[in-house]
Amino acid sequence: MTDHVSRHPQTAAWFDAPTVSDLRRRAGAKWNRFGPDILPAWVADMDFPPAPVVTEAVADLLTTGDLGYPWLGVTGAPNPIGVAFASWAARRYGWELDPDCVVPTIDVLQPLVHVIEAATRPGDGVVIQTPIYPPFLAALEMIGRRLVDHPLGSVAEGYPLDVDALRTLDPGARVLLLCNPHNPTGRVFRRDELEALAALALERDLLVVSDEIHADLVYPGATHIPFATLGPEVAARTVTLTSPTKSFNIAGLRLAVAVFGSATAERRYHDLPRFGLGGVNSAGLAATLAAWNHGEEWLDALVGYLDDNRRHVEATIAERMPGLAHRAPEATYLAWIDARGLPGDAGADPFGFFLEKARVGLNDGADFGVHGRGFVRLNFATSRGVLDAVLDRMADAIARTT
Ligand SMILES: Cc1ncc(COP(=O)(O)O)c(C=O)c1O
Repeated sequence: MTDHVSRHPQTAAWFDAPTVSDLRRRAGAKWNRFGPDILPAWVADMDFPPAPVVTEAVADLLTTGDLGYPWLGVTGAPNPIGVAFASWAARRYGWELDPDCVVPTIDVLQPLVHVIEAATRPGDGVVIQTPIYPPFLAALEMIGRRLVDHPLGSVAEGYPLDVDALRTLDPGARVLLLCNPHNPTGRVFRRDELEALAALALERDLLVVSDEIHADLVYPGATHIPFATLGPEVAARTVTLTSPTKSFNIAGLRLAVAVFGSATAERRYHDLPRFGLGGVNSAGLAATLAAWNHGEEWLDALVGYLDDNRRHVEATIAERMPGLAHRAPEATYLAWIDARGLPGDAGADPFGFFLEKARVGLNDGADFGVHGRGFVRLNFATSRGVLDAVLDRMADAIARTT
């Protein structure tokens, strides 16, 4: 990459730069899970370098050697992460929140499991809109809580929330585990949909754990509404989990936040054995502060580039991939593709088909629950050149089967 490009990361050239040969040299999960002839388009990491403001903040730590325990402020004063997130949430989603309610965590999944475990008993139900990000299902299994399945509608309908089904949901549910924006469908739930969920939570006295990690990756036409903004009563039963790790491509730096609207959930969380939770690391802290305090311009450029990619995926599937049904996501860089229309074995196991016949490594929809069978998830957060190579391989493999 030239100096010129690196000084102007908001240009398309910055996002166009990654090539397959550069990416194959990476040490992370995305480019190492599959063999050297497979193009990976699976896990939710992007192929772009992080924003320069972020890499500079981490580089500063290294050059100054400032790698001791991080400082999160004195007890009673808002921690810098809380202040940065409150400012980010106000600017990006119009959410006015108290920085004191923001607790730094090492990731999203750890507080997700602990908060649900502390609020429920073994066998209690947890409402989830399926298909869903696989660790949600794994987390319930790990702690012996029961899935109360609330499937979204079909791709043809645009994956709507089934408001009518809420009335007859299992009364044994104690928690609503919301994913908004939704992984894998890319839905950004509308206010009326969220209000139906809020009404359910109030009526059934549910704790709401709202994973909003994809909130920064919303495309024009949709608006992210934090669940906790639906009113004081709703906020008081909600724990929001989020981080800049998806939108700023820094998942390896392990830092997230839990925003506790529910005082009971917060007390229970703080009652957990502290050393079992680990502590945040200074690189994650520096990167997160840089992202939330200075990363807005880069993020807007990223979303613009991803928006073009999502339209390109949608058009390419429609034009060149008969047998696939897809609707461009409203958020996330993940395309959720219904492949049940492919002939024979390809339709039954599209993940295996694309891996073997196209040499493309997607996510297997079956991992997202029973309603994901026959689907695949494609990550389009890569340069247009790499994305085209992925799409060409998929289209060619389909052409050879038909
Ligand atoms: C909806 C959702 N939640 C949580 C995570 C993981 O977050 P973390 O690595 O902070 O646990 C992901 C990662 O892709 C995700 O898509």
